[in-house]
Amino acid sequence: MGDNLEISEFLEEKRALIEKGIERYFPQGGGYGKRVLEASLYSLKAGGKRIRPILCLLGYELYQGNSEDILPFACGIECIHTYSLIHDDLPAMDDDDFRRGKPACHKAFDEATAILAGDGLLTLAFELFTHSILLNKVSHLNLLRAIHKVAQAVGLKGMVAGQMADLLAEGKRGSLKKLQWIHNHKTVAFIEASLVSGAILASAPPREIKLLSKFGRNLGLTFQIIDDLLDIIGDEKTLGKPIKSDLKRKKLTYPSLLGIEKTKLIAERTAYEALSILEPLGVRAKILKDLTLYLLKRIN
Ligand code: IPE
Ligand code: IPE
Ligand code: MG
Ligand code: MG
Ligand code: MG
Repeated sequence: MGDNLEISEFLEEKRALIEKGIERYFPQGGGYGKRVLEASLYSLKAGGKRIRPILCLLGYELYQGNSEDILPFACGIECIHTYSLIHDDLPAMDDDDFRRGKPACHKAFDEATAILAGDGLLTLAFELFTHSILLNKVSHLNLLRAIHKVAQAVGLKGMVAGQMADLLAEGKRGSLKKLQWIHNHKTVAFIEASLVSGAILASAPPREIKLLSKFGRNLGLTFQIIDDLLDIIGDEKTLGKPIKSDLKRKKLTYPSLLGIEKTKLIAERTAYEALSILEPLGVRAKILKDLTLYLLKRIN
């Protein structure tokens, strides 16, 4: 399919830009603490789809020409995401030994180093969010708004709370209400904020920020529902992380609550809801539409 090729090529190009940013903005040296820099860079460069930073670039590109202007911001988003994966894999959390096709950070290094690498990456994000390039290129008020949006999405009332609820729900009888709460907090809020922060940095009109926010929530939910499915029907090699991990830990997921077929239907319905939200943007939203269908059909 021509369209599919187009979106995968587009994503590849953006991914290369993110990789370049990571090379460029990652701190050097580290002295006696060098090991934690090595561990952070190991996980950051292990691979990954770079969906969140790409969404940030896309949010910006809807309104401004050159998204390289906000590259440090997008890289900061990937730092936060990578920190969340490093901590998510720790024995005290999901206890998974593989990530992005390689031994998880705590396996390649050790648990203490993995905890510190996560701490370091989370903090590095805020250094990158205030990088001099951004101070020169975007409105400072918008920069503060974008940082606030991301911080809220990943903090104590966002991703961190979602991760807490995800762990507390292990092995318990769950409800759809609780499952939605978990997904909205652990994954959806950050994906929404990744896209919306880019639009905020580009001075998008408030009405469209609202629209993108609604779209982003549906995209984020589609993304996590597919992640839940891939834990059961995915291929470990393609995924680069262990399958059946949710089953082993008796996680509250869409398939565990509703079964595989119903889960597939809900993923589709959520993705099509996302597409319909984009309608008012017309052709401007083409890439976001293609991306939505791409993420619905993803196998990794
Ligand atoms: C994995 O995220 C964690 C979830 C929220 C599902 P990704 O599937 O985006 O992981 P990478 O970055 O591609 O490795
Ligand atoms: C993780 O969800 C969400 C995060 C905030 C990291 P999962 O635990 O389902 O992610 P995977 O499947 O390990 O990538
Ligand atoms: Mg988890
Ligand atoms: Mg996990
Ligand atoms: Mg998962």
